[in-house]
Amino acid sequence: MAGNAPIVIARAMPHDLAGVRNLQEKNHKENLPRERWAEGYISLRTYLPLLGRIREETGIVIAKGCGGVVGYELPLDASHRLEAKGDADVIVPTFLEIGYCGRKIADYNWVTGQYCVDEPFRGTGIPTKMHPEFLEMLGGKFDLLVFIVSKINLRSLHVALNKLGMVEAADRAGRAWKTLVQEIG
Ligand SMILES: CC(C)(COP(=O)(O)OP(=O)(O)OC[C@H]1O[C@@H](n2cnc3c(N)ncnc32)[C@H](O)[C@@H]1OP(=O)(O)O)[C@@H](O)C(=O)NCCC(=O)NCCS
Repeated sequence: MAGNAPIVIARAMPHDLAGVRNLQEKNHKENLPRERWAEGYISLRTYLPLLGRIREETGIVIAKGCGGVVGYELPLDASHRLEAKGDADVIVPTFLEIGYCGRKIADYNWVTGQYCVDEPFRGTGIPTKMHPEFLEMLGGKFDLLVFIVSKINLRSLHVALNKLGMVEAADRAGRAWKTLVQEIG
């Protein structure tokens, strides 16, 4: 835990992007032992030029504490995902076919996202603090937020489903990922 450092939720400025990228890299699955994956890991990288584009085009929500970025929640639209490096190119076509409220996800104006909290700051509810700002930022641009979470990532599944208000779209037995969705008002 990081003591009682005050946490400020904000939209990322250009000088915050290196902090976002560092946090992402630290939590990438290649940099974490597998036995820690249940506590959360990331499988998609967004390098600095792409982070810059995401920030300009949609925005990135960050949590700042102790003088730096200690958490972030970022959106990835279709073009961002094409540029991102990771599993998304494999997973996205499969989840697009999944239905939610009688429509395929593909038929919504949907956006995916990624969120992360630096380890010393975990367990203090930072995702719950960032998420309303994140939804507000996406409002008017997209109508469905989709998170694709590995079934191994129990912590992220718990937070997204029980604390951020996401729901599981129809699951497909046997898949390694759960597709969580949330309507954007
Ligand atoms: C997922 C992540 C963002 C959660 O951040 P956090 O600061 O721990 O979140 P919170 O403080 O809101 O809550 C943590 C919750 O997880 C629960 N939890 C902790 N370990 C858990 C586990 N192994 N399985 C299930 N739940 C777990 C805690 O009990 C707490 O729930 P509660 O408030 O209902 O008691 C953080 O773990 C992280 O950044 N992980 C690495 C990156 C990642 O996985 N991102 C998501 C990619 S889909």
